[in-house]
Order: sequence, then structure tokens, then C-alpha cells
Amino acid sequence: MKNIRIIGAGRAGKAFAGALQEVGYRVDGPYSHSSDLREMSHGTDILILAVPDRSIAETAKSIEPDPDTLVVHLSGATDIDALLPHPRRAVLHPFAPLPDPVVGKDRLLSGMRFAVSGDIAVSDIVHDLGGRIIHIDDSARVLYHAAGCIAANHLVALMSHAGRVGALAGLDMDALLDLARFTLDDIHSMGVQDALTGPASRGDKDTIARHLAALNEQDRAAYLAELQLIEQMTRHVLQVPGFGHGEGVRATDILLQESRGTGSRDTSRDVEVVDQAVVLQRRLEESRSTGMQIGLVPTMGALHAGHGSLIERARRECDVVVVTIFVNPLQFNDHADLDRYPRTLEEDLNFCQERGADIVFVPSVEEMYPGYPAPPGSVVHVSGVTEILEGAFRPGHFDGVATVVAKLFAIAGRCKAYFGEKDYQQIAVVRELVREMLLPVEVVPCPTVREADGLAMSSRNRNLSPKMRKAALSLYRALLAGEKAICSSAGIDVAKKAMVVEMEKEEGVLVEYAEIVYADSFVPVGNKLGNDGERIRLLVAAKVGDVRLIDNIGVQCYHRGTGRI
Ligand code: PAF
Repeated sequence: MKNIRIIGAGRAGKAFAGALQEVGYRVDGPYSHSSDLREMSHGTDILILAVPDRSIAETAKSIEPDPDTLVVHLSGATDIDALLPHPRRAVLHPFAPLPDPVVGKDRLLSGMRFAVSGDIAVSDIVHDLGGRIIHIDDSARVLYHAAGCIAANHLVALMSHAGRVGALAGLDMDALLDLARFTLDDIHSMGVQDALTGPASRGDKDTIARHLAALNEQDRAAYLAELQLIEQMTRHVLQVPGFGHGEGVRATDILLQESRGTGSRDTSRDVEVVDQAVVLQRRLEESRSTGMQIGLVPTMGALHAGHGSLIERARRECDVVVVTIFVNPLQFNDHADLDRYPRTLEEDLNFCQERGADIVFVPSVEEMYPGYPAPPGSVVHVSGVTEILEGAFRPGHFDGVATVVAKLFAIAGRCKAYFGEKDYQQIAVVRELVREMLLPVEVVPCPTVREADGLAMSSRNRNLSPKMRKAALSLYRALLAGEKAICSSAGIDVAKKAMVVEMEKEEGVLVEYAEIVYADSFVPVGNKLGNDGERIRLLVAAKVGDVRLIDNIGVQCYHRGTGRI
């Protein structure tokens, strides 16, 4: 029987105490976190800190480390390093609401999911509770938690809104709950795209306008905000013609602004489109001279939610946000791939405006490469990191990337530049370029954005048929299989093999590589990992039919018992 001690006597601490006791643990506590904590890690196998997120680090520091005790926190969005200096540490986040100790205890024993990371022994707790493990890329932990809060907490707010409006029509909450249950069942059985019904899915603006007219001011503002969520969803997923684009988006924005009176959002700002390098250069120099921070988001267009997250982050962190859209011929080693690359400029300009970009730079190929198609006089070559993986499979690709990025940096000047981690090797190349050439650019890597089923967002996904799209999911599954092998100490070679096997299971998928590198140096990991807490990156590339896709996730490896992974 294992001894477990719990600090934190709130809802989560009590729920875990009850559930763990029921599955045979000897439970000590829960103790209030204002008790004397210094010796709490001695004389127990596991110590759970069920304290508020903001107190985890401080609580962990006030406890003497014990080399044998596994120290665990229960937070969804807090890094595992908050548990330093304890040598054996792990995160165990219950992916379910624990609204009170009794409901919480039953739920913990109901076969629910838990997101774990860190010392692998934490998986035993999940196993003993009869739960299921979710694997989350460490760099995506905060987004994982945000998604959970949307599905659980924001749903409560939506139902409260529906209840308030329903009450005005004499409708009781039970009727609305039944409706919500039917909808959740539909989402479960047919996915979000097909589960969306009602006027928004049909583009029926008249009915929506009648709803808006009938609602009071407070409910109308909430309805409009919800409508914007539907617009985002239909634009990216359903693509309902005539709604969610152009007129539809503007109609909602205007209504939203009206309902907020003089609201802070400036929907009248038209994004500035610039096509000449020298014009952009001067414009940004001017802004910088008044102390403004420039945010640069280089893209090749065909924008999707992944690009959206880069623009939105730049918007939060910078005064002037510039998105560049240029399908760079120099980085395509395959002509057919260049011809097939999706080009959706009109949509992209709307997309940039909606996400708050100030300037979109859309140069012609002659602007970037005078004399094109003659080869450019100067090409930038970054050595080392470009020789393997993407570099080996796409000869010349990174020379094209480094050349165009160097030009974009020269035009933008001192700035923060935002890149998606889906192209993880590209970030390593750009970082090296900045370091070697002493460029005044801060490279900001941003987590990969995935579809609900795990497929990494990519402009190339538009070229996948429904059947190919299904096969493409094998890349993400391969990464999860690799991660699982590593977390169970199976060794690097076994993990790489597991990734290849997972992709090869799918008909029409031609594997190009499955590799594991150190996250910071991008050097491939040998068969044995050295240091505890090492951050590594699992990367895959494959052709799905004639569409080439890449994906990767990050993993942090911790010491477990006697072996090292
Ligand atoms: O990541 C991309 O879309 C491109 O490689 C980039 C950085 C815009 C250069 O063309």
C-alpha cells in the first residue's frame, strides 16, 4: 500500500483524498497549506500539493526536498518547474470539474482523463484511479488548459446566458439542458462542423437580426460575442458561403461596436496594404522613431488559425503589426509544389484585418528578386542545422527561407518576428541566421495550432481530400506513439520505430523521416538520453498522396526510478 500526503484542504484536495483512500492508498491529510510544511515530504511516497496555482511555487520551496518522494501538483496551466527544488516532480491535472469534494471524488473514480507530465511514476496514480492519460506537449500546456476552461467554464457561462433569455420566455433550465445534451451528443457523433445548425449555419441574417432586436442590451452584447465565435468557426471549418466572410463579418462587427457604444475596438481601421520594400522600410522607421515596437509575421499566405495565433500574439506584444504575404519561389525545390501552393489573397487580407494587423506587405516576385526568374545574385546559406531532415529531403529549401527572411528582416529593421513551431527546424535556422548576422530581431516561437482531432494546421491541408486528411492524422498519432515510448523508458530507437510504424499503418502515407533532436541545439539524440529534465523534439515528415506534411512535438524527460530515458 502506498502512502500519500496531501497539502491543501480545498475541493480538489478533499476529492483526491477520498478517491485515493477508496482505491487503497494510505492517505495523510489533507493539511491546510498554512500548516508547518517544512518536513512534509519525509515519510511518504507521494506528496500532492492541492493548492491554488499562485501558491504552488512558494509552497514547494517551503518544503525540504526528499530524494525518494514524488512531489505532484494538480494545476493545468502551471509549469512542472514550479515544483523545484524537489528532485522527483510531476504534474497530475484532472481534466474534469471538481465542484465539491463528493462529486469530485466520484468523478475522479469514473474513468476520466488526466494530463500528466514529469516523473513517470505519476501514471501509476492515474492507473490506480482507473483513469486515462492525456499526452500534452509541454509547450502547449497553457493552451491545453485554455481549451479545457472553454469547454467547461465558458459552457457554464453560455448556459447561464441561455437560461436568462429563456426565463424571459417562460422556458425552464431543464428544457435548455436537454437541448444542450442533444447538441453535445451530436458533436460527439458527427463532429463540430456537422453539429452546427440554426440560422448562423444557414447564413440567415434576417432571423439573427430579429433575435438581436428582441434582446435587451446586456443579452444582445453576449449574443453578438457568441455570434463572432460562430463566424470564426464557419469561416475556418464550415465555410458557409455568404456568411462569415466580407459582409457577414462586417455586419457583426458593426453591431458589436454599436452595442458597446463608443467601444474600444476600432473596426473602421482598414489594414494598409504595401507592395514596395522601400515604402514599408520608411513607414516602419518612422514608427520606430516614436518609440513603437514593430511585430513582424512572415507568411506565405493561405492563412489559417495557426497564422491567426501569430498575428494575435504580435498584436498583444507590439504597437505596429506587419504581416508579410509572399509565396517565396526560392524555397520550393519542386515546381509542382510551388504551382499547387494555395493563393487566397482577398481572404488573407480580410483575415489580417480581423486579427488586428496594421500593415500587410504583399511584394511581387520582382520586388523581392529583381531579374527573376534569373537566380538572385546573393543567397544566404546557414550551415549545420540546415543539413539534416528538411534540409536533406528538400535540397536548397533553407537557402530560400534564409534568403527571403534575411530580406524581410532588412526591410523591417529592429523588430520582434513571430514564427510557428510547426516549422520547428525553420525556427532553428532563423535563430542561427539572426545570431550569426547580428540582426536586431527577436525571434518569437509560437506553439503549433491543431484542429480538434490533432491535425497540425497547415496551408497545405487545403490540398487534402477527406480521405487524405484522415490519413494525415497518422503524423500526429506517430508523435504521440513516440512520446509514449519515451515516457515508458523504451529508448530513442524504439520511439523512432514506433513513429514510423504508426505512419506506415495508414495507406497512402509515405514516410520521409521520424527523428528526435535536442530541442535547443537541434542535434539528433543518440539512443540514450543524458540529463534529467532534457527537452527534446520529436519530428516527422511524410507524403500523404502528393501532399508533403510535417509535424513535431516537444517532450521533457525526467529520471524515473533506476533507468534513465
Ligand atoms: O513559414 C513560412 O511560411 C515561410 O517559410 C516563411 C518564413 C514566410 C518564409 O517564406
